[in-house]
Amino acid sequence: MIRGLKESDIEQIHELGNKLFPNFSKVNNFTFIEKNRFIKVLVYEENEIIKGFLMFTELDETIDILDIIVKSEFRNKNIASCLMDYMISNLKDSVKLLTLEVRKSNKPAILLYKKFGFEIVNVRKKYYSDGEDALLMGRRLEK
Ligand SMILES: CC(C)(COP(=O)(O)OP(=O)(O)OC[C@H]1O[C@@H](n2cnc3c(N)ncnc32)[C@H](O)[C@@H]1OP(=O)(O)O)[C@@H](O)C(=O)NCCC(=O)NCCS
Repeated sequence: MIRGLKESDIEQIHELGNKLFPNFSKVNNFTFIEKNRFIKVLVYEENEIIKGFLMFTELDETIDILDIIVKSEFRNKNIASCLMDYMISNLKDSVKLLTLEVRKSNKPAILLYKKFGFEIVNVRKKYYSDGEDALLMGRRLEK
């Protein structure tokens, strides 16, 4: 089941998010997420296990995907695709552009985004603290 974030999810979200970057749980406490009207989190839950989540911001015409992660034992089972599908199917009509940044080396994520119509629009040199480049990807929505 895909649904919005509940306070009781936060421990599992933090555990998963800290695998993306170590400061995740410090930056994203529940109150911060709940109080920030621009941040949205979709969780993929089955039997009270959060198998993956998608975090994004919605600002006027633009959605920016911040993080998407699926627990390693549940990968390649279409969970990230379901989260992306759910988000895209429920966008407000006012949204015209989807954007995100991804590590140049992150092939699975790049292929996931390409599957959902994203294209590489720019390279941000040495964007990450370890010196890796980021690819800026985007998808324009035609409505
Ligand atoms: C990227 C990630 C979210 C994909 O989740 P997933 O649930 O396994 O993805 P899906 O099963 O829905 O696969 C969707 C598409 O992604 C691509 N993909 C996913 N895993 C892949 C892999 N190991 N190798 C190549 N392509 C892959 C494929 O294009 C796939 O489509 P297909 O099955 O039609 O070929 C997952 O690998 C993950 O959590 N990675 C670590 C976190 C991360 O790097 N997040 C992105 C940056 S925030």
